[in-house]
Amino acid sequence: MLKVKNICCIGAGYVGGPTMAVIAHKCPDVKVTVVDLNEARIKAWNDKDITKLPIYEPGLENIVKEARDRNLFFSTDVEKAIDEAEMIFISVNTPTKTYGLGKGMAADLKYIELCARQIAAVAKTDKIVVEKSTLPVRTAEAIKNILDNTGNGVKFQILSNPEFLAEGTAVQDLLSPDRVLIGGDLDEEGQVAIQALVDIYANWVDRDKILTTNVWSSELSKLTANAFLAQRVSSINAMSELCEKTGANVNEVAKAIGMDSRIGSKFLKASVGFGGSCFQKDILNLVYIAKSYGLNEVADYWEQVIIMNDHQKRRFAANIVKTLYNTVSGKKIVFLGWAFKKDTNDTRESAAIYVADDLLNEQANIAVYDPKVSQQKILSDLNYLGTRSETENSESVKVYEDPYEICKDAHAIAILTEWDEFKDYDWQRIYDKMKKPAFVFDGRNILDGEKLNKIGFVYKNIGS
Ligand code: UDX
Ligand code: ADP
Repeated sequence: MLKVKNICCIGAGYVGGPTMAVIAHKCPDVKVTVVDLNEARIKAWNDKDITKLPIYEPGLENIVKEARDRNLFFSTDVEKAIDEAEMIFISVNTPTKTYGLGKGMAADLKYIELCARQIAAVAKTDKIVVEKSTLPVRTAEAIKNILDNTGNGVKFQILSNPEFLAEGTAVQDLLSPDRVLIGGDLDEEGQVAIQALVDIYANWVDRDKILTTNVWSSELSKLTANAFLAQRVSSINAMSELCEKTGANVNEVAKAIGMDSRIGSKFLKASVGFGGSCFQKDILNLVYIAKSYGLNEVADYWEQVIIMNDHQKRRFAANIVKTLYNTVSGKKIVFLGWAFKKDTNDTRESAAIYVADDLLNEQANIAVYDPKVSQQKILSDLNYLGTRSETENSESVKVYEDPYEICKDAHAIAILTEWDEFKDYDWQRIYDKMKKPAFVFDGRNILDGEKLNKIGFVYKNIGS
């Protein structure tokens, strides 16, 4: 039996940060050190002002406050943390490749490989290496190869332990997960490593919710879960367009089908399109893997989920242009929300970025208010697309701090994120400030359309 006393986690991002905070919170006798190359990020994790943590997640501040400097540490000293730990989690980013073979599809594993090489170079004692980041199936094999060939006789066990937390509910998802999945080698040493990780989670998760499998099943299950979830969103979004043509209402359709216990009610909210760091990346990755085995029908099947999602974003922007008398040139369009979903400051792949890009191509002036996203982030998201110069973006996009101030003289408001506060605004006050007719495009179906129509708005939502 192996009892882990020291854990190192490489990568202090949206996955590594909250996951390690919860492990430290639940296992006070285990020392957990989260390391990152990004000094600013580590500094923010260590900030005395707990509201300055680099990521926003409800409930995270309290957990970090309790465990930090007791058994939870954030550091840039990667080597020291690797050296001290018996178990090393890899939680670095695995973006879609932007160059070379597999460009735009395959996951870029350069950060993972760098981690593996660093572990190999530093390790003087046996280590259990845990893949936390979402990875293509069979990545563990590559990691093992690097570790076994460049190491110094040290023994490594590779486990796959994909993270299923969703942003905005990360702490809750970590505290009471539907399941914990651990994949490892079937031989005796593999089983010892699996057991060591099971023992960590068993501090707060029921044993019957901790599944153990072989490594490949674990890696593939993560991609499959994300593909199925994204597919539900694209399925309901496909129906939303049909609803708009036929007079059906997508909220009613979702409710009616969701009551069928075989279908279930979750993940059936029609929207302006899914975003986030996982869904698109993982499906593209799945498509790439299927193609690489010559499984073209499998690849095409999953690719359609992305095609539908791109269509939904583009269709939302096009509908704004069409409704505003076929031109938004010089018009002020207010975006309420920029994050890819509520309760997070994460904007990766947010639909807002692509809708804004389309409207900027139509020469709109865009004004953005998001309760958690900074001006710098919004502009850098747009600049990253490279559609126009940074100067042009900063001239056409203004970011506001006040949700009423922003609506002054606006031609239209578009809801891009489902932040709860938007529902409680004084919509009469907003209406009074806007140009008439005053349009609202509700990309999240969160507002009371009847009430808005009564005030005088022209209210358009998704799917009815
Ligand atoms: C997802 C998975 O849920 C999680 O298990 C995995 O670990 C990482 O990827 P996340 O991307 O954080 O989590 O958020 P999620 O709640 O899944 O939402 C993804 C996107 O789909 C968001 O843009 C959200 O607004 C959208 N969505 C979700 C809908 O448009 N409709 C829905 O019904 C549900
Ligand atoms: P995720 O959503 O998967 O957590 P993030 O991008 O938020 O992704 O976090 C990944 C983190 O991993 C980043 O802060 C990045 O600086 C860090 N990182 C990447 N490569 C390394 C490395 N070789 N050593 C240490 N940290 C790394």
